[in-house]
Amino acid sequence: MAANRLPVDRVVADDGTVSWGRSPGGLVTAMDSVMRSREGAWVGWAGEASEEAATPEPFTEAGMYLRPVPLSAEEVRDYYEGFSNDTLWPIYHDVIVQATFHREWWRSYVQVNQRFAEAIAEVAAQGATVWVQDYQLQLVPRMVRELRPDVRIGWFNHIPFPPVELFAQLPWRRGLLEGLLGADFLGFQRVADAQNFVRACRQLLRAPTKKDTVTFPGPGGMPHTTRAAAIPISIDFQGLERLARTPEVMARSRELRHQLGNPRVLMLGVDRLDYTKGIRHRLKAYEELLQDGRIAPPDVTLVQVATPSRERVDSYRDLRTQVELTVGRINGEYAPIGSPAVHYIHHTQSTQEMAALFLAADVMLVTPLRDGMNLVAKEYVTCRHDLGGALVLSEFTGAYHELHQAFVCNPHDIEGLKQTILKAINTPDKDKRRIMRALRRRVSDHDVNRWASRFLDALATAPLVPQHTEQQDHEENQQRIQRHAAEDDREAVRRDQTRASQATRRSRP
Ligand code: F6P
Repeated sequence: MAANRLPVDRVVADDGTVSWGRSPGGLVTAMDSVMRSREGAWVGWAGEASEEAATPEPFTEAGMYLRPVPLSAEEVRDYYEGFSNDTLWPIYHDVIVQATFHREWWRSYVQVNQRFAEAIAEVAAQGATVWVQDYQLQLVPRMVRELRPDVRIGWFNHIPFPPVELFAQLPWRRGLLEGLLGADFLGFQRVADAQNFVRACRQLLRAPTKKDTVTFPGPGGMPHTTRAAAIPISIDFQGLERLARTPEVMARSRELRHQLGNPRVLMLGVDRLDYTKGIRHRLKAYEELLQDGRIAPPDVTLVQVATPSRERVDSYRDLRTQVELTVGRINGEYAPIGSPAVHYIHHTQSTQEMAALFLAADVMLVTPLRDGMNLVAKEYVTCRHDLGGALVLSEFTGAYHELHQAFVCNPHDIEGLKQTILKAINTPDKDKRRIMRALRRRVSDHDVNRWASRFLDALATAPLVPQHTEQQDHEENQQRIQRHAAEDDREAVRRDQTRASQATRRSRP
């Protein structure tokens, strides 16, 4: 497996001591649980610029063989902050901010992709399966095929793949497509993303396409066929739900509500501080609801967790300034002493703390302007084993295509967003429970392990479509029925307990 980042970041303290912390982002959360249950090596960057001499050696962590790929300070600037996050990221997210094009950034991207390919070629066994992740490594499939024609190569895009009209702006569009066509199978979050890719190959490379396949000359000149299809990513439902059911997390969620002044409605936003996440639009809607007098602290409050991200890229710096000014203005205008209208957290939280926050929040605001999937939406419903809470979800996320029973919004439509937030607050509990049950079923039936097996099956048979045997389908259905029955039983017990305690309270003199 190769991803831009290893699952752990190397942190050097001022006194020179080295420690390893969990890397940011949904990719790491998802792939970490997949890789732990499979023997494999993870090739990736350790998250800090290294001097030649300081390159960390490969090491083993939680049963995974981790092979660091060093990046110099210039490569962090040009390959990571530059080409990956200031050229590709805006183009792949509907150009919410303008993309920047620099030829030296592209040169650095090629150089670093080559280094990743060489590291993969070095650690992969004969005939291995190589799974490359995300937009930072789009040249790697073809580079690996050149070095190691014996391996099978898959690539998964965690972010959207843009329509050809936007993709065509990239001066290096041919190189990117040719790089990807070195793979046997390409996975995307949505059907539309896979179609955008196939269309780009047809229009920009004049490559012959048939349904979801593209044929193009491989490194030796022989035609090679690649299949591109949608396999939406998910999360470790069982693992996260187990955590959310622990007495510690449940107690912490009650404590959090208490610390926040026991509001009637606690709203929550959890995002990397990224302009794609629609944080400004969400705050605008929230501010207008306060202004209109429709909501007010301490009755209603909002916790916004905004994890630091790509802090040296201008558009991210600008966003941070705007968000922090807005939070300050909202609290200054609408919050009485001791009851902030927005609680703003700009640091990383532990998984336990996140689970407790999800369990505490009455309304979860997921309002991206464009997002490949948005695993926060899936994490929220996973933690709500009590069937409480309401999910407000942007229709511009990949998650919307699976969780369309949520309270759906178009974040550009501020008036509509305000109405959706009020609807999420005011819908009767019994209807919200019904919705939450449906959302949870979808995520539990399509968890990260199923995603990984589907991807690896598709990779094994590509360019042919894998044939699921009837026996496999039957077994999966049986497991699903059993899981749903167990959940219904638990829900019935919980309802009985609530009724019994209400009856006891009523019978007290
Ligand atoms: O999925 C998008 C993505 O860029 C991942 O590749 C990455 O792990 C995550 O978001 C966080 O971004 P970054 O690695 O730039 O901090």
